[in-house]
This record gives sequence, C-alpha cells and structure tokens, in this order.
Amino acid sequence: MIDFLGDWKRTDYCGMLTESDIGREVTLMGWALRRRDHGGLVFIDLRDREGVAQVVFDPEVDAAAHAKAEAIRNEYVLAIRGTVIPRPEGTVNPKMKTGEVEIRVKDCRMLNRSKPLPFTLDDYVDVAENIRLKYRYLDLRRPAIQENMILRSKVAQLTRTYLTDNGFLEIETPFLTKSTPEGARDFLVPSRINQGSFYALPQSPQIFKQILMVSGFDRYFQIVRCFRDEDLRADRQPEFTQIDCEMSFIDRDDIIRVMEGLIARIFKEAKGVDVQLPIERMTYAESIRRFGVDNPDLRFGLELVELTDLVKTSGFKVFADVAAKGGIIKGINAKGCAGMSRKEIDDLTEFAKIYGAKGLAYVKMTAEGWQSPIAKFFTPEEIAEMDKAFGAEEGDLLLFVADKPKVVNDSLGKLRNHLAGLLGLLDKEVFRFVWITDFPLLEWDEDDKRWAAVHHPFTAPMDEDLGYVESDPGRCRAKAYDLVLNGNEIGGGSIRIHQEKIQALMFRMLGLSEEDSRAKFGFLLDALDYGTPPHGGIAFGLDRLVMLLTGSESIRDVIAFPKTQKGACLMSDAPSVVDAKQLRELALKMTVK
Ligand code: AMO
Ligand code: AMP
Repeated sequence: MIDFLGDWKRTDYCGMLTESDIGREVTLMGWALRRRDHGGLVFIDLRDREGVAQVVFDPEVDAAAHAKAEAIRNEYVLAIRGTVIPRPEGTVNPKMKTGEVEIRVKDCRMLNRSKPLPFTLDDYVDVAENIRLKYRYLDLRRPAIQENMILRSKVAQLTRTYLTDNGFLEIETPFLTKSTPEGARDFLVPSRINQGSFYALPQSPQIFKQILMVSGFDRYFQIVRCFRDEDLRADRQPEFTQIDCEMSFIDRDDIIRVMEGLIARIFKEAKGVDVQLPIERMTYAESIRRFGVDNPDLRFGLELVELTDLVKTSGFKVFADVAAKGGIIKGINAKGCAGMSRKEIDDLTEFAKIYGAKGLAYVKMTAEGWQSPIAKFFTPEEIAEMDKAFGAEEGDLLLFVADKPKVVNDSLGKLRNHLAGLLGLLDKEVFRFVWITDFPLLEWDEDDKRWAAVHHPFTAPMDEDLGYVESDPGRCRAKAYDLVLNGNEIGGGSIRIHQEKIQALMFRMLGLSEEDSRAKFGFLLDALDYGTPPHGGIAFGLDRLVMLLTGSESIRDVIAFPKTQKGACLMSDAPSVVDAKQLRELALKMTVK
C-alpha cells in the first residue's frame, strides 16, 4: 500500500541528527538505503541529501509500522515519525555523523516503491561510467556526488556574495547570438524565422561584457554557461560554466587583487583552506623555461634543466645536430628512478613521443657513474658539467629530449607531470596557486599559415611592446594572465583593447580583411568609437575549480548532467535525430543518413 503524505511535515534532515537531539520527536523523509532484520527488530538506514540515520522498527512499539517495514526494499521512499534515542552500548558507529543515535519508529508511511536498482549506491567504484550516466538520477543519489553538488552550490553563493559586496552587478547576456571566438568551433542554432541564418551559442560572453563596460556598468559578473565544440578531455565539457567578470578603470594588478580575494574566500569558506595572498606570479617565459608548460604544477620540483650550451659541441650527433639547427636540449632529473626497468623507460619514451619527441635519451646514475647508451659520446668534463646542472646523485635517472623548443618543452613538461604521478607526488590536499603573466600576444599557426591570438583577439598588447605588433609579432607580449592551480588552468583574462585603431590592427594581424572584421565584429568596432573606458576582466572555470576543491577525478563528477567524451547525454539521449518536419521548417536538408 502506498500512503499519502497527509499533514506530515519533515522536522529534520536524517543526516543532521546528533546526540543533542536525544529525546526529540522527529519526522524524517527519505530513501531506504538498506534494511536489516535482527531478531524481531528491523533496522533501516534512511537517507536524504544530508546523510543517513538509522531508524528502528520494534514490533513492541508499533506493530503496524513494523509490519510495513518488512515490505520495505532498497530505495523505497519513506516518512517516519519517532523518538531520537541513544544507540545501545556497543552499537555506536563513530564513522557515521549520526552514529551516536537512532530513531525508534512510532509511525511510518511508505510514500513510494522503487524497482530494484541497476547498481548499488553504496559501493560504486566498479560501476561503469556509462551505466552511471544513463541512470544519472540514481547516480546523483550517491553521497559523494551529492556532496559535490552541495559544495558547487556553496561556491556559486560565495561568488555572488563576494562579487556583489565588491560592487559587481550580475547581468545576463544572450545565448542566441553571434560567434564570440575563444579558439573552439561554435555550436550553431538555425533560425526558423530567418531561414538560412544561424545563431551561434557563445563560447564566452566576452564581447557582451566588454560592451557592458562601454555602457558604463563598470563592474559586471555572471555565472554563465559557455558552449564550445571542441575535442573533449577529462577536464573539458562542450558546455561548461564560467564565473565571468569585467571591470572598468583598472589595470592588471587591480583585477588580480580583487580576484585573489574571491579565490581566498571560496577556499576558506568552502574548504577551510587558507590561501596565502598575494598569490605568487611567474611570467610565461619563466614558466616555459622551468616547467615546459604554461600551467605548471608547483606541488613538486622535477624542474627542466637547460643543456643546449653544454652539449652543442659534444660528440653526440643527435644533440649537436639539433643545436646546430636552432633546436634545444633539455632534461629532467627523475630523482631516485635509476632502478626503473627497460620496459618502464620505454613507456616513458612512448609517453614523450605522444608530444612529438623523437626519442628520450636516459642516464642511470650508479655508484660507478653514468650507465647509459649515450655515455660513450661525452667527455668526463661534459658529464661532470651535466651532473652539476642536474644536481645528479647516485640513484637518479636523467632524461633528455632534443628538438625544436616547442617539442622539447611540451614533451618534457608533460613527462614531468606524468613522473610526478608515478612517484606519488600529487597530494590532493595541497593547493598551489600561481598567476602566469606576460603571455605572448600572437602565435604562428603552422596549419593555417597565419598569426593567431594566444588568448583572444580583444586582448591588449603590452604598452612597451606595441611597436612589435606588426614588425615582430612573435615578440609582442600581451596584458594577459591565467590563474593556475596544481597544474590546471582555472581562470584566464586580460586587459582589453579599448581603442578602435588598435583593435582594427589586431584583426588585420589575424588575417581578417576589413570587410570580414566588420561583418563579424562591426558592432564591437563601432562601440569602441563611442567613449570606451579602459577595462579588463577574467573568467574562472567553475567546473574545474569545484573538481579541484572536491578532489574529483573528472569534471563530470561535479556537473549534475554531464556529457560523455563524445558529447552525448546518455540519460536523455542527446544529441538525436529530428523530424523531417522540423528540418523543413528550418529549410535544412540532411546529407547524412
Ligand atoms: P578561457 O577560454 O581561458 O577565457 O576560459 C576561462 C576558463 O574556463 C575554463 N574552461 C573550460 N572548462 C570546462 N570545459 C571547457 N571546455 C573549458 N574551456 C575553458 C577554464 C578557463 O581557464 N573570455 C575569456 C575570459 C576573459 O578574457 O575574461 C575566456 O573565456 O578554467
Ligand atoms: P639512437 O642514436 O637513435 O639509437 O638514439 C640513442 C638514444 O637517444 C636513444 O635512447 C633515443 O631514445 C635517444 N634519442 C634519439 N633521438 C632523440 C632526441 N631527439 N632527443 C632525445 N633523445 C633522443
């Protein structure tokens, strides 16, 4: 029999009951996590979003409720009334928040039944993710995911409060809009009323937030969905959420200061972690030199060692040839890894090759000195110099890559993170932040044979580098900054171009004709002509931030309804085919069957 709620009102969340509630009459509502029968008594772990409480059905207290309890199966929905009592001696569960107490049931209503679940909710480790995502409504009942969602909500609230207290206005910008380039493909939405025309979903609100500055809103923020059609990875989703901010009449240091305050507030109140302010800063050039990447994980050392000058005149042809062609040679000292097997070193080599390395030369530091296929090519003096550069000691493994700078830095930078994982150096309870500043403005895109914006085309060049924009584009630095946490880019922003002339020059450098830039961004170029204040901003990836705060392995664990690597929602089965009628209305024809 299914009961109705009637005039029952919940008094407490299951997971909130403690010793201080002993003696109270409570009404709880939730799901039966599991049922156990013990000599006449029936125990049910009743679960709601705040946790689990043990409720006890005793035939001597209420025979009718006890009879109902016998019919209860996992995930049935219950309402119970009863008294909070201390657990009998020896049955206290110190691992449970509510482990000191239990509820002696006086009355029970069974509000709904549940089919047997496709998987159990308490030990989910080996449930395949595609099953979890298909039954996401059940997966979301898991305490771990519920905690993630609760923390995510808290971060959003803290963000709103902090930014509002600091004078920011929350303003919405459109989703059905024109392309805002952030380096990915657009998702397009066909227009029915204007057949043959398309909206683009925003990759970010970038242009709109700048226009809000032109309009005088001064300090803007939005917790906003962004859409990017790009190849997905563990830390990427096709739709994701940004904490998006923009400010006028400020420079880089002002933005950094306000945003550090936000990050410190979030970490303190959501996680109890004190972030040391100001957060350390490092230029892009230094980051590449020391770590090979622009998102360095500073929880561990294993820094890259520059060896080009030491080996360019050596007898090892691979190194000498690379140096002669303008390439570089760098290495990593994998501390204490000399014991690695041939197979393990081969695996490292294969890993480096993913990023373009042609090989991975290695040296094992033994009591007798270098043990290595390349030892014979170097003089004792060269070896001594390299040992010094690496700080090499017995038991270490030295790894080398020689190639174009980009390949060397990429492959060793990624190898550095990989090694840290193998060596157990990635402590999830340590939070190391760093601002990366002074990014290049432009980079040469070899495939398209043109210059591309490193950040986006609205980022201002450094004043002192303005002269290079045309004469030596690769040398021009930008007023851009990223916030990196434990090797993850959690936010990025810049001071913007606020003069129409410089914006037009930037579009020209990107290979956009005057016609193209007017067609795409004419409204921005026009707006810049009407009294645009100096302005700049930043956007944080909320999903990534919460992923790191909760120590989750994947961004999908902090998004209520995420998509798979192939961009599918397994629960709702999106994307899916549409009716021929819908296509006709949009004047679209299918070319795939
Ligand atoms: P950017 O493209 O760097 O900057 O994005 C800002 C932050 O958003 C997060 N992010 C993502 N998170 C999940 N899935 C994705 N596919 C994804 N792509 C980006 C990252 C990133 O740091 N308009 C500029 C900001 C500005 O200049 O103010 C922008 O969007 O954490
Ligand atoms: P080889 O002379 O090709 O047998 O290579 C000798 C060693 O140098 C091997 O361990 C290779 O993995 C390594 N090696 C080859 N090319 C490179 C390179 N470009 N950078 C670093 N190591 C390399």
